[in-house]
Formats: sequence, structure tokens, C-alpha cells
Amino acid sequence: MNKRIFIGVERPAKVPIEINGDLTETYLNESLATALLAFGITVFNRNRQGDCRGPYCNMGTCFECLVGIQQSRPGEEKTEKAEKDERVEKVQWVRACMTPVTEGLSVVVGDSVDTLNNSSIRGRHGR
Ligand code: FES
Repeated sequence: MNKRIFIGVERPAKVPIEINGDLTETYLNESLATALLAFGITVFNRNRQGDCRGPYCNMGTCFECLVGIQQSRPGEEKTEKAEKDERVEKVQWVRACMTPVTEGLSVVVGDSVDTLNNSSIRGRHGR
């Protein structure tokens, strides 16, 4: 479901991104938090107790909106296992509210975060 306002709003070009492995389209340079919320995604990650975390300040201060991202490299063919291994190694944790959408962005949010090596997210913030 798309929760955007369309009447009277001009937007830039749509670009493809991947959210938890599902290909979708959103708008170039809008914040990643905006894109995720527009698609109805409110659980961005979980803390050590398993509590849902999502955008709170929306200005880069609280770190509640952390998500895993990977920039895809078009043209590379890999086996499914090699692709998954690479994702685990190269995932970066970013604040979704401070990250602009770019073409080919691959985002991991919510419960899917647990499928990745998320020690860096939890270790760094002590949650
Ligand atoms: S919502 Fe607070 S840092 Fe992104």
C-alpha cells in the first residue's frame, strides 16, 4: 500500500530499490525513511529485547531508524549462496532518515535484519 499524497505534488523520477528482497520503485533522493513509511513499513529494526524500533526524531539524532543497506552492482551474476554471503559481509547500517534513496539500493528492515550478521548494529549502540 502506498501512503503518499499525490494531488498537487511534483516528484522526481522513480528508481528501483529492493526492500527485504522485493523489488519496488520509489523516488530518487527522498529519504529512505520516507520511502519505507510510504510503503507501510514501520518496524525498521529490533533491539536486543526484540522490541520494534522505527523512526522517532526523523533528524538523525536518535538512531532508532537504523536499517541495513547494500548498493547493488549491476551486471554481476552470482549464485544465490554467494549473493547471500556477500550481503552479510557488505551490509552497512545507516540511519534511514538521513539516507537518500539511490538507484539499486537494497534495504533490509524489520525481522529480516535478524537474518543478517547484525552484531555491529547491536554492539555499537549497546542495545
Ligand atoms: S529517526 Fe532518529 S536518527 Fe533517524
